Amino acid sequence: MNVTLEIALVKLGGSVVSDKGKLKTFSRKNVDSLSAEINSYLSESSDRRVVIVHGGGSFGHVKAKAYSIREGLKNDSQLKGFAEVRQDMRLLNSRIMGCLMSRGIASVSLPAESIVSIRDTAVQSEDFSLVDASIAHGMAPVTFGDAVFDSKRVFTIISGDILMHSLAGHLRPQVSVFCTDVDGVYDSNPVINRSARLIRLLTESTKVSLEESARSDVTGEMRGKLAVLFDIAHCSSRTYVVNGRVRGRLLSALRGDVRRGTEVSHG
Ligand SMILES: Nc1ncnc2c1ncn2[C@@H]1O[C@H](COP(=O)(O)OP(=O)(O)O)[C@@H](O)[C@H]1O
Ligand SMILES: [Mg+2]
Repeated sequence: MNVTLEIALVKLGGSVVSDKGKLKTFSRKNVDSLSAEINSYLSESSDRRVVIVHGGGSFGHVKAKAYSIREGLKNDSQLKGFAEVRQDMRLLNSRIMGCLMSRGIASVSLPAESIVSIRDTAVQSEDFSLVDASIAHGMAPVTFGDAVFDSKRVFTIISGDILMHSLAGHLRPQVSVFCTDVDGVYDSNPVINRSARLIRLLTESTKVSLEESARSDVTGEMRGKLAVLFDIAHCSSRTYVVNGRVRGRLLSALRGDVRRGTEVSHG
């Protein structure tokens, strides 16, 4: 990767780009303001590039779960679900691309399968040639969590968080930012525990105590993010988890000036 470029790796969580509770509901307002913030960041220097990953939210998770897509092919009734999840994700991606492009970002959609190949639910090999070509020519590659082919299980799900992990390893970004629907990583799930406290600096030892504490409740997807956050922090100069539903938080993180959010320590 060209060392003079400043690369920002941004995850737009499914909980930000869609309404998690309502099947296939696109959150246009959020995506439009995040696109404007990305464009502001890019406009500040011609050496900057942004690589974007988005999640599935209610376009992906609901049907993926109903048809057990992650587990792979067990019976033919899942095939319809596999096809539908892929179709729904392309619909979501197309709407996100529309917002990015209408804010003037030359963004190009690169499905997960053009970057990684999967065997037994894990990344088996990576090919960053299209990502690199896009960046070299000043474009912003956009990839997304998806229902993908798996050379052992026929199909599975790859999450946006895993794509962030692969991309961070290759790109060595200046900054990596996860935009989600809460202010950052808390000491327990803030959606169900009103006294949950925001962790401003997440270190390896905070992570261990989070996982060991009986009171802590790092569940579901936040647990999946925790599993990749430190590896990503090792590859990025700065790594943040911020609320993508609050205007200005992404741009502050891209500039390295976070007032409210979680910074992940390098170790
Ligand atoms: N300790 C925690 N800190 C923050 N969020 C948590 C925690 N434990 C569970 N969560 C849940 O994780 C959710 C964010 O993950 P997810 O919905 O997968 O977002 P994304 O779409 O960004 O991947 C929050 O809405 C919250 O309910
Ligand atoms: Mg998630």
